Amino acid sequence: MSGGVGSRLWPVSRETHPKPFMTLPDGQNLIQKTFVRAAALDNVVEVMTVTNRELFFKTEDEYRLVGGAASTLSFILEPFGRNTAAAVAMAAVQLHEIYGPQAQMLVLAADHLIAKQDEFARAVQQAQTLAGEGYLVTFGIRPEYPETGFGYIEADGDSPVLGGLKVSRFVEKPDATTAERYVDAGNYFWNSGMFCFQVGAVLDQLQAHAPDVLQHVRDAFALSHLSEGEKHRCLRLHAEGFAGVPDISIDYALMERSNKVVTVPCDIGWSDIGSWNALSQLTDEDADGNRCVGEVMAHRSANNYVQSTERLTALVGVNDLIVVDTPDAILVAHKDSAQDVKHIVSRLKKSG
Ligand code: GDD
Ligand code: MG
Repeated sequence: MSGGVGSRLWPVSRETHPKPFMTLPDGQNLIQKTFVRAAALDNVVEVMTVTNRELFFKTEDEYRLVGGAASTLSFILEPFGRNTAAAVAMAAVQLHEIYGPQAQMLVLAADHLIAKQDEFARAVQQAQTLAGEGYLVTFGIRPEYPETGFGYIEADGDSPVLGGLKVSRFVEKPDATTAERYVDAGNYFWNSGMFCFQVGAVLDQLQAHAPDVLQHVRDAFALSHLSEGEKHRCLRLHAEGFAGVPDISIDYALMERSNKVVTVPCDIGWSDIGSWNALSQLTDEDADGNRCVGEVMAHRSANNYVQSTERLTALVGVNDLIVVDTPDAILVAHKDSAQDVKHIVSRLKKSG
């Protein structure tokens, strides 16, 4: 799934250059990393990308630069975003048509980092066993702090099931006090935003809990255009048909509502590069705690993150700042306000 704009990473993440395309300090971008990670798993017969139609060529190019794949490549192209319930439902409907109800789908976000590929592969294997039994499988991450931008999974520790844990409750994006309570309780995990489903099972569950999403997706498919090459399939959604699909995330539409949810707790070096603070962690710090990408000079300044690849940026006597320079916009923010960068994007949108 590749669609969100990543507005907390403005001014580098833009509508035409969203978060999955952000280049990391090692030179690869997040969508390339996701593609490589998926293609390296066992038993992958197809890598299906659900994204905006404007990002099709760009995405294909990025994949080609990391070597393409032995498996089939396919795309579902949206005229505009209708959130992740639609993305999952569209993939499931199409996979059902091609491979039947027993096929399994691993749902990945295009903008995560996973440092430990081997452990990730092991977790996916466990997830497949559970998905084979009709469970909706999440990957649970031990929470480090009360993040309000994530989903929380309450694991029922007394009910282990095939290498996973039954989930008694899934709560998407709780408020700060609730998140704190969950972290303190000890039996909650962060939802990593990746899922493993058997195609037939997820369609049944969508039919039970979000029938409107499924129905609108089927209606939109009837109007859409499918092109097929030898190793390539591309479904372009018709804007009018797609407009009716409800804008809701898979977390609210299905995961909060279903009683079939289980989790595979895992330690895979997962990170949702959600803000400049998270991204800054990928760059080493100098003796003063400054993390710098590009040309930067610092004098009596500490604990700053500076990204300046266009020209020289100089810091004098400032601490705890995020400074990001791009050709047409500069961000200067306090580290404590990293989450608020998205408000600038909303204001820019409003002012057109
Ligand atoms: N194709 C498509 N279309 N992709 C989309 C759309 C859409 O309309 N909307 C979002 N996506 C993609 C994003 O690009 C991202 O890769 C993934 O789907 C998840 O969407 P986000 O918008 O990043 O979700 P989130 O971060 O708020 O929340 C989800 O992830 C958290 C972990 O990072 C939830 O699953 C949370 O429960 C979870 O904790
Ligand atoms: Mg996200």
